[in-house]
Amino acid sequence: MPATDVRQQLLRLFREAGGQHVSGARLSRELGISRAAVWKQIELLRARGYRIEAERSRGYRLLGGPDRVTPEEIRSRLGESLVGRRVVCFERTDSTNLQALRLAEQGAEEGTVLIAEAQDAGKGRLGRSWLSPPGVNLYTSIILRPEIPPWDAPQMTFLAAMAVVRAVEEVCALSPRVKWPNDLLLGGRKVAGLLSELSADMDRVRAVVLGIGLNVNMSPEQIPSTLRYPATSLAIEGGRNYSRIDLACAICRHLDALYRLYRERGFEPVRLAWEANCDLIGRRVEVSCGEGTLRGRVRGIDGDGALLLDGPGGGVERILAGDVRPLGTDPGEQATKEH
Ligand code: BTN
Repeated sequence: MPATDVRQQLLRLFREAGGQHVSGARLSRELGISRAAVWKQIELLRARGYRIEAERSRGYRLLGGPDRVTPEEIRSRLGESLVGRRVVCFERTDSTNLQALRLAEQGAEEGTVLIAEAQDAGKGRLGRSWLSPPGVNLYTSIILRPEIPPWDAPQMTFLAAMAVVRAVEEVCALSPRVKWPNDLLLGGRKVAGLLSELSADMDRVRAVVLGIGLNVNMSPEQIPSTLRYPATSLAIEGGRNYSRIDLACAICRHLDALYRLYRERGFEPVRLAWEANCDLIGRRVEVSCGEGTLRGRVRGIDGDGALLLDGPGGGVERILAGDVRPLGTDPGEQATKEH
């Protein structure tokens, strides 16, 4: 068994022991390696910041670990999940999306997850950059290979958004709202952004890279006032820090479940779940898009993930890309175009 798998199994056994001691003999037996080899791997875990107590008569006990996202930590908690079957972690990289696209081109398997402690060239939507300071947030990209045509690929962003919503609900007991096309908000401020990128032939997707930037433990001082939009973090909203490992694992598990659902029943259940978590349905908004500015009342999203606005004369405007801003409540107003 490779050394990383041994450490992953050690962490799993410690976790299953629920804070109790596990004897060296049992670890050696379960892992099929000598007690000296167990000791060596425990030392390596300690070097990575795990606090592991050793008692001659009782064995080893895990007292705590660093909130460092490592392949061993994630893999040891995920079991049979397709999402996260392979995990690649970077101390620092340009952009996990760029790395994921490179890996996908080289044939990386579906479900590969890339995570960075920091990004030097974090990418946002519409050529913008994504603030990526070290050690506080989650910057992750997930490679999927759905058997769909390229024009259905935007659906995957909504799948990823719902996975993040559910992960945040589970780990933090906070309820983010989704904002079209790819933002998550808490208290009206942006807490996460998603950027999906594609590698495709004319009629077939080769790989979708789902990029997720989640502001986890960033403090108010770490959020520049120069950002284009009001931003926040889970810690700011929840009043305490959260484990990035718990969040990364929860995102993988929820994405895995939603991806299975998507393959069995298509986009409709995901579309409905997304709309149920969107505060803008039925509200008046202004959308800045390629052709100018559009105003109207949000009806929802369609099967392609396009935003539907109720337009003048009962028509519906279909918007594929743009930035949405809520407007005040004027009951009479319907969609108007301002070019
Ligand atoms: C946006 O709201 O504009 C999308 C932001 C997406 C940021 C994430 S961080 C992980 C992944 N790697 C990147 O370079 N971008 C995405």
